[in-house]
Amino acid sequence: MQPASTELVRLEQVSKAYPQPQGTITVIEGIDLSIQPKEFVALVGPSGCGKSTLLRIINGLMPPTSGRVLYRGKPLTGVNLNCAMVFQSFALLPWLTVRENVELGLEARGMEPEQRVKKANFFIDKVGLDGYEEAYPRELSGGMKQRVGLARALAVEPELLLMDEPFSALDALTSVALREELLDLWRDPEIALRTILLVTHLIEEAVELADRVIVLSNRPARILKDLVVPLQRPRNKKSEEFGQIVDEIFSLIA
Ligand SMILES: Nc1ncnc2c1ncn2[C@@H]1O[C@H](COP(=O)(O)OP(=O)(O)OP(=O)(O)O)[C@@H](O)[C@H]1O
Ligand SMILES: [Mg+2]
Repeated sequence: MQPASTELVRLEQVSKAYPQPQGTITVIEGIDLSIQPKEFVALVGPSGCGKSTLLRIINGLMPPTSGRVLYRGKPLTGVNLNCAMVFQSFALLPWLTVRENVELGLEARGMEPEQRVKKANFFIDKVGLDGYEEAYPRELSGGMKQRVGLARALAVEPELLLMDEPFSALDALTSVALREELLDLWRDPEIALRTILLVTHLIEEAVELADRVIVLSNRPARILKDLVVPLQRPRNKKSEEFGQIVDEIFSLIA
């Protein structure tokens, strides 16, 4: 008998094919992956290889074509409410205020209005947007919009935060700031954010942030390498060790 699993997520031989006009295309093939609680894992892979597809499967938004996804040892059968997602495009609703956007996931989970407001305000504060509760997305910069996206995801206190290229639509300085803030939030004892799966096509971003980097191949995505980043935080991007890890991943993808 196997020992009880401590894994948060386990993918077993997960494949996904999409029907397309010119025939079926396989996007993901035979992915085996496990994520432990409290890990910060990054998925890197070439454009169009199937990264977002993999996140949607892990989130339970769609089933794999074959293979299975286990969450805390149990097969996933629908949308996983223990997960929350942050999108590259921010995905804010323009007709709702910052606070109403942050409240969305709480409303969907049946939380009372008074408690919702309290929780939303707490997380708006945590992402540095205190004072912008009643603002509309059109009044915010890109970085501020993504802070709202982050607050909305954190507000449901997810066990697993899924991030799909969250910094790719931001200018360089803003993304540097937000990456640091994400690490601060991850370490913040007042926030129950412990496990993160981040999708990125930026190798340096993956090495800067994650404990482990999973390197995916061109479509159909397969795992080329599952690599531990043994560097202390804060990481020095100019150090030789940092550069060596980036080079190693680059040579796998290139
Ligand atoms: N719902 C769908 N129906 C049919 N094909 C799809 C669907 N979603 C994605 N695809 C195709 O699957 C492939 C992988 O898409 P996916 O968005 O998962 O890749 P990605 O690695 O996230 O890409 P990007 O780097 O552009 O974000 C693409 O070729 C895309 O056209
Ligand atoms: Mg994508």
